[in-house]
Amino acid sequence: MKTFTLGTSKSQVLEMIPERSIHKIHLDEKVIALVRLGEIFYAFQADCPHRGTSLIEGTLTNRGEIICPLHKYRFEIKSGKVKVGSCGDLEIYQNELTEVGLKIWLP
Ligand code: FES
Repeated sequence: MKTFTLGTSKSQVLEMIPERSIHKIHLDEKVIALVRLGEIFYAFQADCPHRGTSLIEGTLTNRGEIICPLHKYRFEIKSGKVKVGSCGDLEIYQNELTEVGLKIWLP
């Protein structure tokens, strides 16, 4: 498991990542998607498990789901579970907002 730290403080991370937008983050050679709801962050694979379309262009619903722009499959960003569609679940990444930044763990 690899640990990455985004930013240098909690307040800097909160300023850097506006709420409810979908961010593309590069961690080494991996690209992940990051969403903030309040002080909770959700990190998940940036490409759709169905056909690999970028979820960065997806739509976030009020129910905490992301809708893929291509075939409109839906995934719960908290658990990664596919809610509408027939493909595998989203890979999600553990993270924690700390006083020294946002820690993200990749397997
Ligand atoms: S590529 Fe995402 S739903 Fe088909």
